[in-house]
Amino acid sequence: MRVVIVGAGNVATVLGRLIRQHGHHILQVVSRAAVSAEILAKELDCNFTDDSSLIDKSADLYLIAVTDTAMAQLDERYSLGDKLVIHTAGSLPKDVLENITTNFGVLYPLQSLRKQNMQLQQDIPLLIDANTVESFEVLRDFAYTISANVTKANDEERLKLHVAAVLVSNFTNHLYALAADYCSKEGADFNLLLPLIEETALRLRNYPPNEMRTGPAIRKDIHTLQKHLHLLLPYPAIHNMYLKMTDSIMNNP
Ligand SMILES: NC(=O)c1ccc[n+]([C@@H]2O[C@H](COP(=O)([O-])OP(=O)(O)OC[C@H]3O[C@@H](n4cnc5c(N)ncnc54)[C@H](OP(=O)(O)O)[C@@H]3O)[C@@H](O)[C@H]2O)c1
Repeated sequence: MRVVIVGAGNVATVLGRLIRQHGHHILQVVSRAAVSAEILAKELDCNFTDDSSLIDKSADLYLIAVTDTAMAQLDERYSLGDKLVIHTAGSLPKDVLENITTNFGVLYPLQSLRKQNMQLQQDIPLLIDANTVESFEVLRDFAYTISANVTKANDEERLKLHVAAVLVSNFTNHLYALAADYCSKEGADFNLLLPLIEETALRLRNYPPNEMRTGPAIRKDIHTLQKHLHLLLPYPAIHNMYLKMTDSIMNNP
């Protein structure tokens, strides 16, 4: 397919690479800053512009991967008639695009994407949706060219998975960041925890998470909990988090 990409950030870059690798023809990158549009266009070997009124109207598919706030502000400069236009946001409904086209949809990558040095270990789960049967079929066929893991999900289903994604990815990563900071201040080596982090995640391929719970909170080991909380007194944010997580584990057996 001939594709125009709007945005030049993480999702535009990672999906742009995949789209190109799988034989599609990327015509143009359109982005707010000419410099980021140019960098991505160079990598994808296509044209670029920072002027939305110069968007190439000859593509079959328009992939809009800008921030959620910018998405809600797309105006008539992006007016694309009946072209198929899709966005990549988990938490926005597909009809945020209804003012710029009559055929719109969503291709939400249920994965944390970073343009720098990211080796994808497996196909990205793609949650797709569209406003007509015809658009859905075109989008589904396109999605399967870049990933074998494609699922239909409407706005509500996508939003629910977006919430779960925040819990399993953003929140756990925040805990890693707190732990790394704590280790560095206490002279402990955070890298020693990496096998534990990986093992905990890998087990979920075979077992449900509630059966894999371990640690002092699930054992109701008050003595150890008190020792940990004492050590955390100089770190009020982590102390607070530890208390909340312990309470959540103890009260959700
Ligand atoms: N990253 C992920 O892991 C991930 C995963 C799934 C879904 N998503 C969704 O994908 C979308 C893009 O996310 P991202 O991570 O790629 O974001 P990002 O890396 O921050 O890139 C955002 C892009 O939006 C452009 N932009 C920002 N404000 C703009 C405006 N007012 N007008 C036009 N363009 C504007 C930026 O342009 P400049 O280059 O000029 O700054 C940049 O190219 C979001 O809806 C996000 O929720 C992200």
